[in-house]
Amino acid sequence: AIDPQFTENRDKVDEHNGHAVWGPVDEPEELGIHGTHVAVDFDLCIADGACLEDCPVDVFEWVDTPGHPESEEKADPAKEAQCIDCMLCVDVCPVDAIDVDAG
Ligand code: SF4
Ligand code: F3S
Ligand code: ZN
Repeated sequence: AIDPQFTENRDKVDEHNGHAVWGPVDEPEELGIHGTHVAVDFDLCIADGACLEDCPVDVFEWVDTPGHPESEEKADPAKEAQCIDCMLCVDVCPVDAIDVDAG
């Protein structure tokens, strides 16, 4: 599962679509965590798609990640600022790849 303490345990190494990327990143095999308020561990995501289907405010968008060992697309928290903290995505992800800091 995604580390809920990732902002302490990882370094911000990049930006993507207006959000932070938390390393380590070593493309294409290692992609890190995308987002901060809504964070998706790209190295865990298997492109199940439940988060995209269920988010009531369409926070997520697919991004292509060719060559990643788990899946060749990922749910990117492209509109994390719109999140209403409903926690649905956290509940439905089968691999616990998402952390939402509702605090
Ligand atoms: Fe969308 Fe709710 Fe997840 Fe926020 S917590 S990203 S609103 S499903
Ligand atoms: Fe990926 Fe989990 Fe969404 S596997 S596509 S973050 S439901
Ligand atoms: Zn991203």
